[in-house]
Amino acid sequence: MKKAVITAVGHYVPDNIITNKYFEERMDTTDEWITTRTGIRERRYAPDDMATSDMGVRAIEDCLKMRGIDKDEIDFIICATVTPDHVFPATACLIQHKLGMKHPKIWGFDISAACSGFIFALETARRLIESGGSKKAIVVGADKMTAIVDPLDRATCIIFGDGAGAVLLEASDDDTVGIIDSVLHVDGSGLPHLHMKAGGSVMPASHETVDQRLHYAYQEGQHVFKAAVKSMADATSDVMQRNNLTGNDVAWLVPHQANLRIIEATANRMELDIDRVMINIQRYGNTTAGTIPICLSEWQKEGKIKYGDNMIVAAFGGGFTYGAMFLKWGIK
Ligand code: UT7
Repeated sequence: MKKAVITAVGHYVPDNIITNKYFEERMDTTDEWITTRTGIRERRYAPDDMATSDMGVRAIEDCLKMRGIDKDEIDFIICATVTPDHVFPATACLIQHKLGMKHPKIWGFDISAACSGFIFALETARRLIESGGSKKAIVVGADKMTAIVDPLDRATCIIFGDGAGAVLLEASDDDTVGIIDSVLHVDGSGLPHLHMKAGGSVMPASHETVDQRLHYAYQEGQHVFKAAVKSMADATSDVMQRNNLTGNDVAWLVPHQANLRIIEATANRMELDIDRVMINIQRYGNTTAGTIPICLSEWQKEGKIKYGDNMIVAAFGGGFTYGAMFLKWGIK
């Protein structure tokens, strides 16, 4: 069986930096509250005329440049997002078209697993590659959270930002690197605590839903926080036990960036020093499906990751969805 190996990474974040001061000037909050409760100091906002697919395209271009291959070598694209350009068609189709990738060779689709979207998409792409049916896949996590976050809700708007990251996943005969294992879960009982109330088939858009601000992300922060801490730690511990790993064996924990306190709790459970945890939440906030590939791309570009490094990638998000993945880094 072929191995599925990440062979290139890329990312894109918009230029517009929004500091905590921006919120201090607009609502009843402080830089101190935001920093101590979340670890976030700034996030990026995409311009009005930039959609999720546009950020995805830029991240993929950055990724392909690293590998130096032509876009037409890609067999399929999986786009993880909860802020698709449209309810349909899939954002993967729009990315294919905007990149000018060769039709009819390429195929693709979107995955909706909120903040776990990137690892759900990566696991899916891994299986498709391991099956031998495809050789090269793009997995892109992209979210324009400002499209669905209520700018008047101080409990959510301070957390989220816009951004995208992408990886190239390739079939390889080298079985010393690549994606080794994953544990993924869904728990739909989480619905009441994190969701968007209107705009779906349960409550189609109407004047009333707009007037009542029901097209924004709704989150019960504390409940989600507790579930995230437990689920990310449990999934991480499961995947480590299954693969006989201790904290000493792990070069990097790559956690979804939702809250610095959740990240620290996960690292503690793994008995991992915080300097072996990828953390950039202070600069970008929570970009949902974008957080993990943006981290991977930044750390790779800064030369901090070595070929063969053991990584644990972990996420938790709306659904609830959560999981952890064990991989060995395959970029030289
Ligand atoms: O990525 C997807 C999954 N999402 C997550 O993992 C997010 C998980 N949750 C969290 O990160 C945290 O729960 C939040 C950052 C959202 C909130 O932090 P918290 O420490 O759980 O605060 P809280 O919701 O318990 O609120 C404490 C107080 C409340 O006031 P009262 O009722 O005690 O008077 C809130 O109204 O803080 C208030 N509050 C704020 N105060 C200043 C809420 N937002 C703010 C704010 N500035 N921005």
